[in-house]
Amino acid sequence: MKTIRDYIRTIPDFPHEGIMFRDVTTLFSDARGFRMAIDQLLHPYAGTPIDKVVGLEARGFILGGAIAHQLSVGFVPIRKKGKLPGKTIEQAYQLEYGEAVMELHDDALQPGDKVLLVDDLLATGGTAEAGIRLVERLGAQVMGCAFIIDLPALGGAARLEKLGMQVHSLCAFEGL
Ligand code: PRP
Ligand code: MG
Repeated sequence: MKTIRDYIRTIPDFPHEGIMFRDVTTLFSDARGFRMAIDQLLHPYAGTPIDKVVGLEARGFILGGAIAHQLSVGFVPIRKKGKLPGKTIEQAYQLEYGEAVMELHDDALQPGDKVLLVDDLLATGGTAEAGIRLVERLGAQVMGCAFIIDLPALGGAARLEKLGMQVHSLCAFEGL
């Protein structure tokens, strides 16, 4: 039987030399693969109260939408700066070169909301940490962080666990 990992395509030297790009479009485009991914992402949270699914731009939107629909809860996007039309709060985070900023509408979550945070891939954990901080600044609580892929060599899971997070990923790839 094909596993989640088998559906993910690896493209060498993208976006630049030496990087093995883990491409989830081949997972998303397969009916069985996509359903399996959504089911497996949700599996650990059976019985966990979740009020909102928060997805990180960009592929976290695809996963988060499907997960929110499955849980019959609302979906909230965290976007790169300048994309959300309403009043936002901002959080800077570190990229390989330089810094970027994520935004969340300041009325998208209520204090006490229980949130599941979703993205396709966990590398250094910088993006997810920015997401967690934004959610927590609105007084909401992150019940779990779910990813398709973990790159353990980059230490993201350990970084998020240090923040007290429960991290769930469906597969791992060694190296960068
Ligand atoms: C990728 C990936 C994660 C993030 C993980 O997104 O989709 O969101 O990097 O990296 P980190 O754990 O080191 O922060 P990217 O920033 O390439 O943007 P995109 O999703 O909008 O394509
Ligand atoms: Mg991303």
